Amino acid sequence: MTCEQERAADGILRRSARRVSTIAVIAIAIGTSISLGSNTSRAEEVASTVTWDDQTLALVKSGDATRGSALATQCKACHGRVGLSDAGLMPTLAGMNPLTTYKQLQDFHGYRRPWKDMNQISRLLSPQDMADLAAYWASLPGLGKEPSGDPASPAGKLALEGNADKGIPPCTSCHTAKGNEMGAPPLAGQNAAYIEQQLVAFATGLRHNDLDGQMRDIAGNLTPEDRHAIAIYFSATKP
Ligand code: HEC
Ligand code: HEC
Repeated sequence: MTCEQERAADGILRRSARRVSTIAVIAIAIGTSISLGSNTSRAEEVASTVTWDDQTLALVKSGDATRGSALATQCKACHGRVGLSDAGLMPTLAGMNPLTTYKQLQDFHGYRRPWKDMNQISRLLSPQDMADLAAYWASLPGLGKEPSGDPASPAGKLALEGNADKGIPPCTSCHTAKGNEMGAPPLAGQNAAYIEQQLVAFATGLRHNDLDGQMRDIAGNLTPEDRHAIAIYFSATKP
């Protein structure tokens, strides 16, 4: 991302963080138990035990795709034989940024991200298994193309430029074709229904494993119509 985009995204995130703490202060001051979903306890809650320190980055880099390929036989019934899922709510894993796969497996393992099947499957995986699986899925062709949708459409503009007035940074400042260093997954080529479902899950706080609540804030600022349109925008890709 450019410096300008970085500053814009940063400003928006700071503003939304301030908004959340103002609401929290007001709620405490009037002594009520206003329910803000899981966002209320964000200050105490640890979103994820994964931090992008040198040790974690080195572990993910050490992933062995050949070993991962053997472990991946247990994933294919759901995620597809070559990691391309055509079932709407099942994510495509082929071409996934390895940092994302690793972090999500750790988060499922530690119940930071709730999903029964994934919580059970990841319980049995060691950190090295997760790195190996991440290397394997990253080695297959899939995600990582360019969206084919019209960049001048409302969804295209939101994805590429954001909407500063509504507190929405450009999605592509973090979600590049290959994902980015913070574990932001590539979105282009992902199933539309899955993208939309995850945006709803972040907006409602059902999914709360994003560091600093950044996706919860952004998704919360999108309308249901925005979430639907943007999911369709990212799902269709150029060949
Ligand atoms: C019983 C079906 C099932 C099996 C088997 C399965 N998964 Fe999943 N997986 C899912 C579903 C469903 C989701 C989406 C969960 C959600 O909506 O939050 C998911 C999500 C994921 C995600 C998150 C992707 C993202 O974009 O955030 C990763 C990574 C993942 N699975 C990896 C694996 C790996 C690796 C294996 C094999 C070791 C595996 N899964 C086996 C059903 C399965
Ligand atoms: C400041 C960086 C940033 C921006 C801007 C951003 N995202 Fe994200 N997004 C992330 C990160 C990091 C994650 C992974 C969160 C985690 O660790 O689970 C994520 C996760 C997601 C996911 C879950 C994908 C999956 O495979 O499970 C979706 C969907 C998503 N973002 C959509 C969007 C959309 C749409 C926009 C623009 C309106 C956007 N994001 C803007 C950083 C960002």
